Amino acid sequence: MTKVLIVGHGAREHVIGESLVKGGATLHAFMSFKNAGLEDLSQGRVKIHSETDFKEIGSYCKANHIDFAVIGPEAPLCVGIVDALEKRGIPCVGPRIEAAQIEGSKVFMRSLLAKYNIRSNVKSKMFQSLEGVSDYIDEMGEENIVVKPEGLTGGKGVKVYGDHLFSKDDIMKYCEELIEKKSRFLLEERLDGEEFTLQTFVDGKNVIKTPLVQDHKRAYENDEGPNTGGMGSYSMENHLLPFISEQDVCLALEDMKQVVHAIKKETGMEYKGFLYGQFMKTANGIKLIEFNARLGDPEAMNILPLLTTNFVEICWGIIHGTLTSRVSFENKATVCKYLAPEGYPESPKKDQKVEIDHEKIKQIGARYYYASVYKKGNDIYSTTSRAMGVLGIAETLEKAERIAEEGVQCIKGNLFHRKDVGTRALLQKRINHMNSLLGK
Ligand code: AMP
Ligand code: GLY
Repeated sequence: MTKVLIVGHGAREHVIGESLVKGGATLHAFMSFKNAGLEDLSQGRVKIHSETDFKEIGSYCKANHIDFAVIGPEAPLCVGIVDALEKRGIPCVGPRIEAAQIEGSKVFMRSLLAKYNIRSNVKSKMFQSLEGVSDYIDEMGEENIVVKPEGLTGGKGVKVYGDHLFSKDDIMKYCEELIEKKSRFLLEERLDGEEFTLQTFVDGKNVIKTPLVQDHKRAYENDEGPNTGGMGSYSMENHLLPFISEQDVCLALEDMKQVVHAIKKETGMEYKGFLYGQFMKTANGIKLIEFNARLGDPEAMNILPLLTTNFVEICWGIIHGTLTSRVSFENKATVCKYLAPEGYPESPKKDQKVEIDHEKIKQIGARYYYASVYKKGNDIYSTTSRAMGVLGIAETLEKAERIAEEGVQCIKGNLFHRKDVGTRALLQKRINHMNSLLGK
């Protein structure tokens, strides 16, 4: 049996672990924070320790004869976990440090896209002081500005004019805040359109697509409030979205293939692992919002449970450079709703008891994945991050949404979720928005 180590502790890692076990792996989990789902799946073969202590992770792999490791989150990838483990002879599913900078540094990402003339790139400029900021805002027009800290911010550092910033003054103040925190930042062209996530499996050369997903970054219903790590996501039974065509996907995939090629040319390093592209369809075509060097959270929950190809074999394909396009998924719709602590993301209430009616969730047919909750005795408590993801899978979006929503009702605590994720009304709003931008 293949012994696999999953590194990471969230709902994404929970669903990755589930897919590995389904594929026949004996699972081990290395996590900074105990995930009760991973603890069950790995039958207690867990180590609770820093996910960036590579020496310890390497020793754990050696002592337990791990065949390969799957790295879930961006933090260890961006500081070189794959380089460290591979040096000790442990194959990994995840990019090496240079290649992971496609997520770790937005400056690296935008410069790469510019240098290689990748079509979906947008205008942006990097700053590390206030020098030139005011002129650049005037040149772009304040209403066309998005401010992005350079590094990893868990999806919460980006501020968009019209959503979070309402004047040139607001933009300048946020830039000053970032400078005080010693963070370099980008001023980027603001786009208007509909976003979609295209997640791929990459073996250095082959880039294999998975069903499209749409995430919901804003904290509150109707896409209001601050940006979050993602409050929920859905996918459709035909693996597209009603406002995104097969041709749009081809364009996005083509750019992802070019990026994999550009990374190799620029760094000498083959990109291996998962590559996540966040795109926006606009009146001027498909544009790139960001790349991630990992699967999405929640988006991993929308695709992995639909896999009909063995996930352990896919991982070996990534490692050996032998992926084929024969990766298939069930033609079903999925809806994932995240439960987050009251006050998330700005002032979340922590240590609140969470009660789960496991039996009822099972009856409804919903699945749930633990994110940031901890066990004390037999009870489960929330932390300051998203607590649990609840997933509905069905032949149609309507049914999947109902399963997810009913599943959410089986979880009690000081938590909130977005009821509108996956609903017909929100979908129609997105279709109308796209149509109006395209002048239809
Ligand atoms: P990111 O962390 O880059 O994914 O950004 C978080 C969210 O901010 C995205 O999902 C978008 O909703 C929004 N955003 C980022 N970049 C842009 C942009 N250039 N134009 C409009 N919205 C953006
Ligand atoms: N859901 C967005 C992300 O994983 O970055």
